[in-house]
Amino acid sequence: MSDFEHVFAEPPPGAAADWTISQNWCAYTQVEHDTWDTLYARQMKILPGRASDAFLNGLRALDLNTGGIPDFAVINPKLEALTGWTVHCVPGLVPDDVFFDHLANRRFVSGQFIRKPDQLDYLQEPDIFHDVFGHVPMLTDPDFADYMQAYGLGGQRAAGLGVLDQLARLYWYTVEFGLMESPDGLRIYGAGIVSSATESVFALEDGSPNRIAFDLERVMRTLYRIDDFQQVYFVVPSIEALKAATLQDFAPIYDRLRGAPEIAVDAVLPGDRVLTRGTQSYAARGGRFAA
Ligand code: PHE
Ligand code: FE
Repeated sequence: MSDFEHVFAEPPPGAAADWTISQNWCAYTQVEHDTWDTLYARQMKILPGRASDAFLNGLRALDLNTGGIPDFAVINPKLEALTGWTVHCVPGLVPDDVFFDHLANRRFVSGQFIRKPDQLDYLQEPDIFHDVFGHVPMLTDPDFADYMQAYGLGGQRAAGLGVLDQLARLYWYTVEFGLMESPDGLRIYGAGIVSSATESVFALEDGSPNRIAFDLERVMRTLYRIDDFQQVYFVVPSIEALKAATLQDFAPIYDRLRGAPEIAVDAVLPGDRVLTRGTQSYAARGGRFAA
């Protein structure tokens, strides 16, 4: 993933040239399968009425609750039939160019491991629950599927232009932590939120964070935090609208952004369409599940 430090510079022993490894599904232990089931059940108590229809429909279409960690040999044919995407395991975080190349070819990469039973609520590196439960259902949505592929192509371009920081913020505030409007109120589509029991509630219901209407250049200038709940969430009208807003050529935007200052995580600017003005009290109390 583009949003973490890389662990290796070259594919580690046992990985293919494109960094993929076998899921080796038969090697998962019963404890590991049970961890998936526990996490799945916990999220399903929280997500109806909070997650977007696109996410919940995707979850249902892929049938990720057959008992234990999904077998990619079973879910890939379903996913591929819907949108042409497939999911593959990698041994850890991969370099940006490898990540972008996979996305550009409609391949999503996932961690192979699952978190330990004593780490259900927080872990530093994405595991298979975050990657598959969090990300893969949205890949069944045709517009989101196109957006992710376009992001991969855009990533290759941004790398060449030296503007990856700007593009990574777009990923962060949409793919990982995006909210969207619905006739019944705000809904979650970001993988970092839907895969977290605590943030699924915080992102929608807590009085602390700001919730601001998505604006491409605004998002590309906004810093983010990787170690705690977000202090701002950006809200798109729909995935279709997100796709439409990112179809344009980013080159003139990157040029403009070169001179523009970064925006702090708790800032509210005069041009913002603010849906919820947060108190920021959670962050002020020190964050990380502060009481
Ligand atoms: N339109 C972008 C560009 O010109 C590519 C892109 C699309 C990037 C979608 C991110 C998401 O670079
Ligand atoms: Fe992720």
